[in-house]
Amino acid sequence: MKTREITTDIHYVGINDRVTVKFEEQWPLPYGVSYNSYIVKGSEATVLIDTVKIDAVNRYLQKIGSEKIDYLVVNHMEPDHSGSIPEVCKIFPEMKIICNAIAKQMIKGFCHVEDEDRFMVVKDGDELNIGNHTLRFYMTPMVHWPETMMTYVIDLRVLFSGDGFGSFGAPNGGIIDTEIDTDLFLNKEMYRYYSNIVGKYGKSVMMALAKLKDLPLDYVCSTHGPVWHDKIPEVMEITRRLASYESEPGVVIIYGSMYGNTTEAAEEIAQELNLLGEKKIIIHNAAHSEMSDMISDAFRYDTLIVGSCVYSMRLFPPVEAFLTAMETREIKNKTFGGFGSFSWANGVAEKKFNEFTETLKLPLAATFSFKHGISDGSANDAREFARQIMAERKKMENNN
Ligand code: FEO
Repeated sequence: MKTREITTDIHYVGINDRVTVKFEEQWPLPYGVSYNSYIVKGSEATVLIDTVKIDAVNRYLQKIGSEKIDYLVVNHMEPDHSGSIPEVCKIFPEMKIICNAIAKQMIKGFCHVEDEDRFMVVKDGDELNIGNHTLRFYMTPMVHWPETMMTYVIDLRVLFSGDGFGSFGAPNGGIIDTEIDTDLFLNKEMYRYYSNIVGKYGKSVMMALAKLKDLPLDYVCSTHGPVWHDKIPEVMEITRRLASYESEPGVVIIYGSMYGNTTEAAEEIAQELNLLGEKKIIIHNAAHSEMSDMISDAFRYDTLIVGSCVYSMRLFPPVEAFLTAMETREIKNKTFGGFGSFSWANGVAEKKFNEFTETLKLPLAATFSFKHGISDGSANDAREFARQIMAERKKMENNN
């Protein structure tokens, strides 16, 4: 397969993966994923930017072809990008590896590259001249691992951003955003990728955005998904909003129910929300929906409602798992409400929702529980709960 030219002297040698079912063995890939790698050809040296997952190494090496690689820049060491480093090292015995000090230890540990002469360790702001082009390295720790950095080709205004600005989904046919329909990426897969993979590290992403803010950018080349060109402002804005936990209007209801009683309450709440004027309501049955989609929607929209039956003195396990995922990602700035059903263990759901909101320093906008099946009284409580949620959301909007 031919390599694609992104712009002068920059070529795409990444791989589309439409075989792996779950990224990191957790996150579904209904539209595949790409492992993006690039070649920068200077008049005096040629640089490879990141590699690909080891499963795709043969196709990858075919793409690199007869190109002689002088330097490999390692922006990120997660094995979806570093897996092919040992093979690339074998093929190019003279190649230097450019990375930071933390990545160097990881390369030794993961890839067993021991030869000290291989390494050129860089720090924030260091530059490498390759003749007619100059690369500058920016340390961007925790976007998404501690060693992550970004590489900027100063004269070409191209940023190799590692996982930053990445997306699930393998681009179809083209690679630059001007060549393809970007709707899938900008409206779904970028949200899912950010919230699932990078979501915990919003503060680090904001620090990286601040560091990059004055760089002129013609192309942003992430390790996953399209190369951004026309859509750079939109992509930056989506990333800023997600990293700062800024939400869009909408209500996400996540519930778990064994025999349908909590389901009925969820439907009652949703109907009342709708009667109050809310059109954007997303309901997930936690036992059936993918965790990936629930996390993504919870990140994206401003109101989160969680409901659960009691299960062995705890919440229903898929709901507990969802709340743990929210705690891990330190979700903020939500109008949050919780409801529950019980047969004999009153108070379990409220206790859990109180603990959850205390941990995350989120106000608990409303809560209610009902015993056994839903009755006229508890249906009325569900509607009142919906009204309280909408009132608290309004207050939050006015405060922001
Ligand atoms: Fe695509 Fe954090 O690796």
